[in-house]
Amino acid sequence: MLDRVSRVVVARGMSHRSRLLGIGMSVPKRVVTNHELATMMETSNEWIIERTGIEQRHWVSDGETGASLATAASQQAIERAGLVPKDIDLIIYATLSPDFNFPGTGVFVQRALGLKDIPCIDIRQQCTGFIYGLSIADAYIRTGNFKHVLLIGSEVHSTGLDISTQGRDVTVLFGDGAGAVVLGRASDDAHMVLSTHLHADGSEAEILWTEYPASAHNPRISAEAMAERKHYPVMNGKRVFKHAVMKMPAVIMEGMITNNVTLADVDMVIPHQANLRINQMVAQMIGLAPEKTHNNIQRYGNTTAASIPICMNEAIELGKIKPGNLVCLVAFGAGLTWASAFLRY
Ligand code: ACO
Repeated sequence: MLDRVSRVVVARGMSHRSRLLGIGMSVPKRVVTNHELATMMETSNEWIIERTGIEQRHWVSDGETGASLATAASQQAIERAGLVPKDIDLIIYATLSPDFNFPGTGVFVQRALGLKDIPCIDIRQQCTGFIYGLSIADAYIRTGNFKHVLLIGSEVHSTGLDISTQGRDVTVLFGDGAGAVVLGRASDDAHMVLSTHLHADGSEAEILWTEYPASAHNPRISAEAMAERKHYPVMNGKRVFKHAVMKMPAVIMEGMITNNVTLADVDMVIPHQANLRINQMVAQMIGLAPEKTHNNIQRYGNTTAASIPICMNEAIELGKIKPGNLVCLVAFGAGLTWASAFLRY
């Protein structure tokens, strides 16, 4: 009979652990400032900055798609991993804004990267999509099923927003963009994904959603539904804000307990970029020092599944995250869903 410790050692010996090998990002060329938005609807630079911290965002132009942004981000991540596209054996694509109804967008990235016959998994989970995707990539690498996983978060919000005064509460928040990471096998415990913590609660699924087009309706879209603007996202901003500032500290705490660390051990917290005020409140609630977190929503808006890799990429480029650092990723979003991940970069 093996004792508990021996069983863990044997289990570890049979499996692998995962680590982040490379990261990349891409955003559309067009920058849309708050001032430009104020020419399209009744809003102001001051209102948007005061409530959200956002100063500008990137929106696609003709020819730019979720897949094209994701491909550029992926190429950068693969190159930084010291790999070539054919080394990738699984693509996970997280988005709430797929390029088409079906098939999923992952296959278009696969094609653009010149790859054939590797599986592509598309997942939803909105703002927590990247962390849910990370947990899937980590699990597949641990079991030995796949060696190099390309994980992408990519969104094109701008083509689906109500760009009018009626939709201004939601429209001013969102930007387009993509972030990607390559995960591979860890060779030591100085660089590895430590844990992921996933949650969901559908009891208030409709406080942030886009109802149409939908197979739950027959027909899926109608002139009446469009006249009622039901094909645009709607949000109860105050409810979302409240849930976010409750759930994000809790799921950070859950990860710290699992890994037997305190906030003093954590080098950097990368929060989902939904609203600077949410992140400031979370930091204040848990007593997080400003130098231990990074935000860039000011320049990109909320890019949903792409926001964590875009923010983490910038923190790495700025030298705020160094090899071996203990990093916490945390997100909250529609569903409702919330999640955290702890890793040694
Ligand atoms: N410009 C100017 N005025 C606006 C705008 C705008 N863009 N949007 C709303 N207003 C007006 C409203 O019409 C309202 O006017 P009224 O008082 O005459 O009725 C007034 O501003 C206040 O509106 P509220 O909705 O009460 O504004 P609030 O203070 O709640 O701020 C906001 C809105 C910024 C959306 C806030 O609720 C929030 O940040 N919520 C969190 C949700 C979030 O960040 N979601 C991101 C997506 S989800 C995710 O990624 C987790």
